[in-house]
Amino acid sequence: MVIILLNLKAYEQGIGEKAEELARIAGELAESSGSRIIISPQATDIASLSKNIETFSQHVDSSPMGAQTGSILPESAKAAGATGSLLNHAERQISEEEIKSGIERLTALGMESMVCASTPELAAKYAEYNPTYIAIEPPELIGSGISVSTANPDIVTNSIEQVKAVNPNVKVVCGAGISTGEDVRKAIELGSEGALAASAFVKAENPRAVLEDLIGGLK
Ligand code: G3P
Repeated sequence: MVIILLNLKAYEQGIGEKAEELARIAGELAESSGSRIIISPQATDIASLSKNIETFSQHVDSSPMGAQTGSILPESAKAAGATGSLLNHAERQISEEEIKSGIERLTALGMESMVCASTPELAAKYAEYNPTYIAIEPPELIGSGISVSTANPDIVTNSIEQVKAVNPNVKVVCGAGISTGEDVRKAIELGSEGALAASAFVKAENPRAVLEDLIGGLK
């Protein structure tokens, strides 16, 4: 099933009660459309949002449980209700070793992993570690309002080709600048198994209308 992942990042419109309202809207539209919509909030909001919508953490650390302080553990994200996590987002990059151990840890907990990559070559490298998803996101288009599926379709098709050659089990999604249903439709046409969006939804005057439009692109 194709997905839309909505990353709330650290936008002021996506924190606390405002995040709960966005999750309520997304939950209603996920249900009425029968689509898989996932919200990725800050870790502190996972528990409250998970009542209304499927959630992924924005990041998890690879630190062990026990006597250490300040980390976001996969176990904690799961306990709060998350079903998976982003790893290595362009705005929260980690080492290759941490990517590998993060995927292993999430998989062992029965959670999904979505590893972000900036190039098809990195996408193929991370596919060796068997994440659930690779998300191809060219950093220069993030937050631009110019969709990767229109501005750089080759990066999407090349990533899909290279990832599937390494590991056909890994699903490839794309993000950066995705703002409309048409952007989603083009992404799916290119072979993407979903789309990631942030600013167009979180910062919208009417997030419900934006999400309805994005979901329309899945059909
Ligand atoms: O995680 C998704 C994100 O990086 C894309 O951001 O604002 O271009 O939709 P945006």
